[in-house]
Parts: sequence; C-alpha cells; structure tokens
Amino acid sequence: MPSKPKVVLGVSGGIAAYKACELLRRLTESGHDVRVVPTDSALHFVGAATWSALSGNPVSTEVWDSVHEVPHVRIGQHADIVVVAPATADMLAKAAHGLADDLLTNTLLTARCPVVFAPAMHTEMWEHPATQENVATLRRRGALVIEPAVGRLTGVDTGKGRFPDPVEIFDYVRRVLAGGGETDLVGKHVVVSAGGTREPLDPVRFLGNRSSGKQGYALARTAAARGARVTLLSANAALPDPAGVDVVHVGTAMQLREAVLKAAADADAVVMAAAVADFRPETYAAGKIKKKDGQEPAPIALVRNPDILAEISGDRPRPGQVVVGFAAETDDVLANGRAKLARKGCDLLVVNEVGERKTFGSEENEAVILGADGSETPVPYGPKDVLADRIWDEVLRLG
Ligand code: CTP
Repeated sequence: MPSKPKVVLGVSGGIAAYKACELLRRLTESGHDVRVVPTDSALHFVGAATWSALSGNPVSTEVWDSVHEVPHVRIGQHADIVVVAPATADMLAKAAHGLADDLLTNTLLTARCPVVFAPAMHTEMWEHPATQENVATLRRRGALVIEPAVGRLTGVDTGKGRFPDPVEIFDYVRRVLAGGGETDLVGKHVVVSAGGTREPLDPVRFLGNRSSGKQGYALARTAAARGARVTLLSANAALPDPAGVDVVHVGTAMQLREAVLKAAADADAVVMAAAVADFRPETYAAGKIKKKDGQEPAPIALVRNPDILAEISGDRPRPGQVVVGFAAETDDVLANGRAKLARKGCDLLVVNEVGERKTFGSEENEAVILGADGSETPVPYGPKDVLADRIWDEVLRLG
C-alpha cells in the first residue's frame, strides 16, 4: 500500500484556528498523515488535546520537546506539503524573514516541499504594506499564499481577510499535492467567467440558461492551485467560492461585460467560460407582469447583447493577453468551431460537442481546444478539472 501523503498543518494564533479543525478532519479522513504544529498563541484558541486527538499524532509548539528526534528539522524534511492555516500577519512576517523561534517557523525553514499559507486577519492588517510586502516575498520564493476571502470578520466588521471555507482550502491542498506543487502560473493574473447570465423581464422573471458554472469554477480552482492570481466572474452559479480566488458575482450580460472589462485591464489571460445570453428583453417591467383573463400574452421583444468575447479579443486591454472562448456545437463540430474562432478573434476556442452524456451540470466534459495558430488539442471525456488544466497548459504555451 502506498504510504499516506504527509501533511504538516501549521496553525498560528488567530480565531480562525477553530476552522482549521475542520480542515484537519477532512485531511485525515481522506487518508493523509497530518502532523499539527501550532504556535503558542494558537493554543489560546484551540488546545493541544484537540489537535492531537483529531490528528492521531503528538503535538508540540517548540523545539525542546523530544529533542532526540530532532523535530525542528525532521518534520519539515519529511513533509509532502506544509499548510499554514490560519496564517497571521505575524506568521507571514516571520516566514518572510526566516525567523525560527518555535517549531513551526523552524519547520518552514527545513521544508523543501510545497508550502501553502492561508492568511486570515483584519482587512487593515492584510492591506498594510508590511504584510503585502511579506506576502510578495513569500510568493517570489515559491510559496503559495491563498488570497483571503471577503466577508464577515471577527466581531461586526466585514472585508477582505476572512479565512476561506475549510472545505475549499482542503480542495486547494489536494490539488497542490496532486500537481506535485507545480506553480507555473505564479505571477499571472487570470480572469475566468463562469455560469450563465440572467436577463430580467420583471422583478420575478428572467431569461436564463442551464449553465452550472462547474467548468468555469474548475478553471478558477486549477489556476489558483498552480499559483495564479484568479478573478472569477460568477454569473448565477450556485457553487461555493473557491479558496484563494477573488470572486465577483454578477447577474446580467451587461454586468458581466463591465466586470470583464474592469478585471481584464491587467490580466494575462481571459477565459470566457460563461454562457452569455445573446439577447435580453428590450424593456424591463418595474412591476410584475400580470396575466389578464381573456387576453393573449404580449410578445417579448428582444435586443442583442454585446459579444464580450469578440469585443475583448478585438481590443485587448493588455498587449500579449491570451483570450479563450467556449463554444457548444451539435454538428460539424470542428468546422463550426474553426469558423467561430475566426469570427470571435480569440486565441483559443474550447469546443464542446453537445449530446447525450454531455449534459449541463455534469462533473465531466469532453472537448477539443482549437488554437488560432492551427493547433488542435483533443481532451477525452473526463473530469472538468483535467480539461481545465489542459486549457491552462495551452494558455501558457501561448502566453
Ligand atoms: N460570449 C460572449 N458574449 C456574448 C455571447 C457569448 O462573450 N454575448 C462568449 C461566451 O462566453 C463563449 C462564446 O462567446 O466563450 C460562445 O459564443 P456564442 O457565439 O454564444 O456561441 P454558442 O453559444 O455556441 O452559440 P451560437 O451557436 O449561436 O453561435
């Protein structure tokens, strides 16, 4: 039996330490051997007994326990991945400066495996230039620093700095482990649109489509795990925000267009995976449209929405930016795909054949990635993550 992947879970002293218990549970239950290394201050929030019981391993904070085993060197050397969650501003500062005054900071210096930090702190602390410079230093050295989520913080305030959902951090960690810590998208900003737009008719009705958003979310998750800064423009997808991804929620095609143009200004790649409504109702009824006895329904007049993909392809907000589109075809898939690629002016077009098995909302997909340079990359039926990774491979080839 292959040995279990060895995970070091470093916990520093923030209130989100309690959420790291859930992360630990998921890691152990899915067959990882987890050694928890808390800092002294982390133990103010969650005690050593909890970490030990949940991990099934001994827990200590400092280098003077079990000295004969040389833990300050051994734990880091043997790890397949180190995850510091939550990472406080203080922990990021120590790691950036190579301080080593406890077991966790020693472990960070001896680890040669992928290292992930999941920061959690108040917005002011996160945005402080000292913290931002420390994060930049860690990233430059190859560490993966997950962007904090935006939302409710300790107390009544809200903002950026929230610890991402532990389930999403777990997903991120698994992807990094599966990819062997490949960080080929570090330093890149990628924008992904996902889901389907809704075009309102009145306060309760809309014209929409059945796109689940799963392929777009898979693109966002895989890019984040490969080290990219990711902006996900989510149109009505009922999916949790992925860890380490800046998520902007939009409703209509016009809102999506505005969000794409804004996010794309400094992006290295834009991937339009969202199903954008080609038309919207010409008028929006401020009050609910009522049926009237004996009267036929009034026809709904539609107007064209702007084609965001064509617009951004024709007028790139940043030189050298790679633009990717999606298309669903039923017949003459490759010929129609090629024609659409040329029409839209994008660099890559991911063409799905619509048919049985390939339903909306499924976890799997099959596609051909067509390149404007004539390339043709078939991706066989399989998980949407695999297709997502192949798309990023192609983006990197061009970018
Ligand atoms: N797209 C867009 N803006 C629109 C419509 C589509 O940016 N108003 C993008 C989608 O995000 C996707 C691609 O264009 O990347 C799909 O192109 P589209 O012309 O809508 O193709 P199909 O959906 O396959 O429709 P059709 O067969 O009618 O061309």
